[in-house]
Amino acid sequence: MTDADFAFLAGLLRERSGLVIGPDKTYLLEARLSAIMRVHGFKGLEELAAALRMIRSESLIVQVVDAMTTNETSFFRDHAPFEKFRLSVLPALLKARAGQNRLRIWSAACSTGQEPYSLAMLLREQAALLAGWRIEIVATDLSERVLERARSRTYSTFEVQRGMPVHLLIKYFEQVGGDWRLKSEVGDMVEFRPCNLLGDLRGMGSFDLVFCRNVLIYFDQPTKRTVLSAIGRQMAGDGYLMLGGSESMYGVSDAFADVAGLRGVYRRADARPVSIFTPGGTAAPELAAARATIP
Ligand SMILES: C[S@@+](CC[C@H](N)C(=O)[O-])C[C@H]1O[C@@H](n2cnc3c(N)ncnc32)[C@H](O)[C@@H]1O
Repeated sequence: MTDADFAFLAGLLRERSGLVIGPDKTYLLEARLSAIMRVHGFKGLEELAAALRMIRSESLIVQVVDAMTTNETSFFRDHAPFEKFRLSVLPALLKARAGQNRLRIWSAACSTGQEPYSLAMLLREQAALLAGWRIEIVATDLSERVLERARSRTYSTFEVQRGMPVHLLIKYFEQVGGDWRLKSEVGDMVEFRPCNLLGDLRGMGSFDLVFCRNVLIYFDQPTKRTVLSAIGRQMAGDGYLMLGGSESMYGVSDAFADVAGLRGVYRRADARPVSIFTPGGTAAPELAAARATIP
């Protein structure tokens, strides 16, 4: 592939999805785009690049961008963020929203749905505490392909064995052939929508909690900054943002400040200080009380 073809493909991917690929990643283009090239009869990346240049077919561009996304995910991925949500963030939000009894949660870049469904199961486990609350979980991704899979609510044995506690599998899934299908009591809690984080996010409404995990790693610094600012504008002033294990706000954006003692958890920089329970730390008495009601 010529340098010009590489630059063209890399530029297209950066513009459409934020994905940054260096010249050392030609093999990744070959590997991920081989199925598309086969289907369309292109002999190699040169022919694909030429076709994209000439035809500018939106459908082909979408297929290429989608094929280049990394959709790795699992139920309760990394475990710790879900514990931070359960023990610290949720009690703080329940206290802050008492009276309105409404919570809006956004799983941005949700891939095949394991992240929002994990949140839904976790909340379902708190049914007694959340009686009378209206909880909305909105889950979005750039890729229609992964959203379709997420909406199917069906996972292989391998997928459900990765990270899911057995008691939740037994309680919330039913076996369908060799696969596992999420029951509607949890499945119905999540609404899936397409959303490109590089686009206009204003139609998403305002959220109390945003999970935006393991997607910023694919973007360059200016894109990360832009996306984080846009997400911040869609968050309630006292809302929370949770990033992935290898992602950090440090040196990227000053729109957020970290929550002391809760790595990976952020609040808007302009948020008023609150007391929040941190394992091993201290909590305001009323938050400690709220936490005590959560098993
Ligand atoms: C590695 S997965 C992360 C899934 C989940 N958040 C987790 O941590 O397990 C990254 C997801 O980001 C999506 N993605 C990539 N670029 C995006 C963009 N510009 N807007 C929205 N989603 C994007 C991909 O389609 C992919 O499903």
